[in-house]
Amino acid sequence: MSNPAGPSRPAPASVLAAQATHASAPVHPAFERLLPQFHRVRAQTLALVEGLSDEDCALQSMPDASPAKWHLAHVTWFFEVFALERFEPGFRAFHPSFRMLFNSYYNGVGDRHLRAERGLVSRPGLSLVRDYRADVEARIDALLRSPALDAADATVLAEVVELGINHEQQHQELLLTDIKHLFSRNPLLPALREGWPPVPVVAAPAGWLACEGGLVTTGSAAAGFAFDNERPAHRTFLEPFELAMRPVNGGEVIAFIEDGGYRRPDLWLSAGWDLVQARGWQAPCYWQQRGGGDVQPARWHTFTLRGLVEVSPDAPAAHLSQYEADAIARWLGARLPTEFEWEHVAQRVPVEGNLLESGLMHPAEPLAAARPGLPGQMFGDVWEWTQSAYLPYPGYRTAPGAIGEYNGKFMSQQMVLRGGSCATPRSHLRATYRNFFPPDARWQFSGVRLARDGR
Ligand SMILES: [Fe+2]
Repeated sequence: MSNPAGPSRPAPASVLAAQATHASAPVHPAFERLLPQFHRVRAQTLALVEGLSDEDCALQSMPDASPAKWHLAHVTWFFEVFALERFEPGFRAFHPSFRMLFNSYYNGVGDRHLRAERGLVSRPGLSLVRDYRADVEARIDALLRSPALDAADATVLAEVVELGINHEQQHQELLLTDIKHLFSRNPLLPALREGWPPVPVVAAPAGWLACEGGLVTTGSAAAGFAFDNERPAHRTFLEPFELAMRPVNGGEVIAFIEDGGYRRPDLWLSAGWDLVQARGWQAPCYWQQRGGGDVQPARWHTFTLRGLVEVSPDAPAAHLSQYEADAIARWLGARLPTEFEWEHVAQRVPVEGNLLESGLMHPAEPLAAARPGLPGQMFGDVWEWTQSAYLPYPGYRTAPGAIGEYNGKFMSQQMVLRGGSCATPRSHLRATYRNFFPPDARWQFSGVRLARDGR
């Protein structure tokens, strides 16, 4: 590997050449919608790391989390490997080692660096990664304006670029949750940014929405973008059920703790109880008690991207594993919804709420009243654990080649979460969207919405 560590390099010639074409070359018709979206999402990623130091961007706090610098490079790698390498005439890699270094899990692409050691990659430095981003972005821009693309290539390239845009949005959320975990390990408990708007204080109404169930359609039949794991649309039979009108909140989790919820094996799935013992869980991730004395009891606080704050009893509780979500639901006399129950209700709910664009970076009380007769906060605030294993839908097929590794190969030992969080970009979400994590994962903005059998 040549030394990629040197001082910030001037913009590569390809960047300057491509930037010069920005204003003049017409956009290929297949990309008229995608090109502005591409640049907007790329800029949003850079905006998220504004104010972070080079050291902030380089560190890795645990094997599951990646350094911000790695995220910045890896989403760029995706466009370089899956779009430029295949479609750019005379393609040359920005750096020969990056193909291996920033490959996350695509065995079809070749070798990759160990996930758990991403934080040891001090070189390339952040400035070279920024150059890498600028270079690939300019070359994608030039490619999407290329008159040489035939219709068949343009169709495939459009699909790859749209997948790349959505991939980058997924990593925007991961970048934030990984930075949050990193900062939580710093005794100074730093905030990502100062001066954020205050979290609103309005209690959400409780209650249940009764649903008849029956034979319903779930999964995506939309002509627009959806990940392969959301397709195909298919029939699902639902028994009558009820879905809670709001997520479980901080006050309910505090009551669960005070009732000995983390010490009662009768509330837990076996694997969850084993984890409670092994890891010493006594509260959600990032929760700690502060203050208190002879008279005043200690108060529950939680680390947030805004620093350490007191747990709001009315805001959705976050950073729960699926095991905790399941135990809390059982303690509250309910259960987790299936992903299909959740989706059946969400099909009637507009995608709005406390999402990345709110700037709150923390679950909040509802930002707007729920539509009459519909549950609130279905989208945003916290991803909602379901009791559904992450499995292929009937008729599911992966795409050929390495890009087919995107989703399908993870359909084992993971559980589905729905609805997005305060770190999810709004344009990234749909009612059919399926997030998935192992049931012990706690560093995402993951929470609970109750369900129960119809009565
Ligand atoms: Fe990725």
